[in-house]
This record gives sequence, C-alpha cells and structure tokens, in this order.
Amino acid sequence: MRAEFEGKTALVTGASRGIGAATAVTLAREGCSRVLIHYHMHTEGAEQVMREIRAAGAETAGFQSDLSTPSGLGQLRQQLRQLAPEVDILINNAGSLVQRASLAEFTQELFDRVMDLNFRSVWFLSQEVAPAMIRKGWGVIVNLSSIAARHGGGPGAAIYAASKAAVACITKGLAKELAPRGVRVNAVSPGTVDNDFHAKFSTPEMLEAMRKSAPAGRLGDNQEVADLIVFLCSEKARYIIGQTIEINGGMYMV
Ligand SMILES: NC(=O)c1ccc[n+]([C@@H]2O[C@H](COP(=O)([O-])OP(=O)(O)OC[C@H]3O[C@@H](n4cnc5c(N)ncnc54)[C@H](OP(=O)(O)O)[C@@H]3O)[C@@H](O)[C@H]2O)c1
Repeated sequence: MRAEFEGKTALVTGASRGIGAATAVTLAREGCSRVLIHYHMHTEGAEQVMREIRAAGAETAGFQSDLSTPSGLGQLRQQLRQLAPEVDILINNAGSLVQRASLAEFTQELFDRVMDLNFRSVWFLSQEVAPAMIRKGWGVIVNLSSIAARHGGGPGAAIYAASKAAVACITKGLAKELAPRGVRVNAVSPGTVDNDFHAKFSTPEMLEAMRKSAPAGRLGDNQEVADLIVFLCSEKARYIIGQTIEINGGMYMV
C-alpha cells in the first residue's frame, strides 16, 4: 500500500480482463482511492474486477464503450465528463489486433477500427483527462505499446503494429507537452503475454515459437506487466518521462 496514491482517481481502459484487469486491481491494492474501469463486451469480467477493487478498499465504477468507433470514443468521453471529470492516473490499455488480415484482405473499415481502438483512443482520452491534471499540476498517463511496434507484427498484424508504433511516438510528443505542467507520460511495450489476447489471435504453435524465442524460457503474465505500469505511476518513477519500457523476457534485444 502506497500513501502516495491516497486520494487519487485512476481510470484503466480495457480492464475487464488481461493486463488491464490486473492493473486496475493492483492500483486499488496499492492505495488508489478510486479505480474506474472501462470495458467493451466482457461485462462479467468487468463486474468481477469491480468486486476485487471494492474488496481492496477503493471506490469504483464501470464504463462500457466500443473504442474502435468514433461514436464509442465520444460516448466514453461524454460519460467521463458527466461522472468522472477529474482523473489523476490514466492507463490507456484497451487494445486488440481486431483481426489478422493480409494486405489484399485488409478493408478500409478494418484499418479504421484497428487505428481507432489502439491509437486514436489514446490521443483523445488523454485530451479528455489532461485539463484536470494540468489544473492540479499532477497527473500520470501510461499507454500500451507492443513489441510489434519494433518488429512490424506477426502475420496479418502490420496495421496493429503500426498503431502501436504510433502510440510509442505520441507518448514522446505528449510527454514533451505535458511534463512542464506536472503530467508524466510513458508507455509499456509487452512482448507476448499468455492471456486471452493470444488465445484469440494465435495458435498454440505460434505461442510455442514465441516462448522459444524468449531467453526467459516462458511467456509473460498479466501481473508482470501490471506491476511495471503501477511502478511508472509511482513517485519512484518520477524522473522517467516519454519512455516506452520493453517488458518481454528478453525476447527482443536491439
Ligand atoms: N497480450 C499480449 O501479448 C500483448 C502484447 C503487447 C501489447 N499488448 C497490448 O496490451 C493491451 C492489453 O491487452 P491484453 O493482452 O490484456 O488483451 P485482452 O486480454 O484481450 O484484453 C483487452 C481489453 O481491451 C478491451 N477491448 C478490446 N476491444 C475493444 C474495443 N473495440 N473497444 C473497447 N475496448 C476493447 C477488452 O474489452 P472486453 O474484453 O470487455 O471486450 C479488454 O478489456 C492492449 O493494448 C494490447 O494491444 C498485449
């Protein structure tokens, strides 16, 4: 439990499962007073995460929206304006490959969905919460990039990889703009985390090849990434600004 998080309101997008769920619960256990969660389809998961947040002693509320569409993003912004106008810690975690598709198969509609979910939402949710952070002179934003941003992505994931490279890029731009006003912005870039994301998009053979390529000899788990995110939110990371921290069991070392 960290006294430094007392009184703080955190918002974690995509917190109904995976890395986001682990991050939301950890922020509550570490002492955040309010941990708001966003989710898309997995209502049951969101309700379970909210129970765990309450059990840790924090207040919570859930916001449902589809961030792969401009109207879904607008809906979440509207809800935040009405119900949670002051967020101190924003974790831009919601994301997905959406669908593996080759160049020939890729439609403009799919392109927009992938970019809207993984990239556009990061920029505009930051725009939504930053004014209150600036007024208080304190805030933290942590974005989720990916190892795909560095190697271009696996089969059919080039646009997902590009969206995550864009996230790493705007993390620097946002950090430069907001650091002088007391808001630290960083990103984390996971390698392969063994969770629902890959259960949906990767075969057991693909996962085994990824495991073999990791010097750690195993894939990552949600809690390991959540612990890094919470570290970046803490005062221990007070001089870390505009960085994308790789967390991948040594999978990619260049
Ligand atoms: N798993 C990995 O190996 C890995 C590696 C690198 C980067 N990442 C990134 O880490 C972040 C978390 O991923 P994860 O591994 O925890 O994935 P996950 O277990 O599949 O969870 C993804 C979360 O994002 C939400 N989400 C998905 N599509 C959405 C949409 N259209 N609108 C709004 N929310 C949506 C999901 O909501 P519902 O479940 O409620 O539908 C869920 O809460 C993502 O940004 C991902 O790209 C993951």
